[in-house]
Amino acid sequence: DKTWQDLIAVAELEAGDATPVQLGRRELAVFDTVDGIFVSYARCTHGAANLCDGYFDGRRIECPLHQGLFDARTGASLAAPARVPLRMIEARVIDGRVQVLV
Ligand code: FES
Repeated sequence: DKTWQDLIAVAELEAGDATPVQLGRRELAVFDTVDGIFVSYARCTHGAANLCDGYFDGRRIECPLHQGLFDARTGASLAAPARVPLRMIEARVIDGRVQVLV
């Protein structure tokens, strides 16, 4: 069963950007979006790039490798060559800390 796990303090995030966070063996990306905090697996669904190295505009994250584009709030793939949506992870903020359901 999934449980809520502590990930990182909101204060430790790069404001308005994507922050890479390791949770055990999981490489996650924490997005500080215009609509709040969202979390996904950090690897691009097209190749092996870490999306946290890409350009983030508060809504969309652009892959640094081939410029695939994803909506960081829904995971939707918005531009080729990224076709498979990002795997999002349910997240919440409690007492200033980001928690994820994994
Ligand atoms: Fe991300 Fe190719 S690895 S678009």
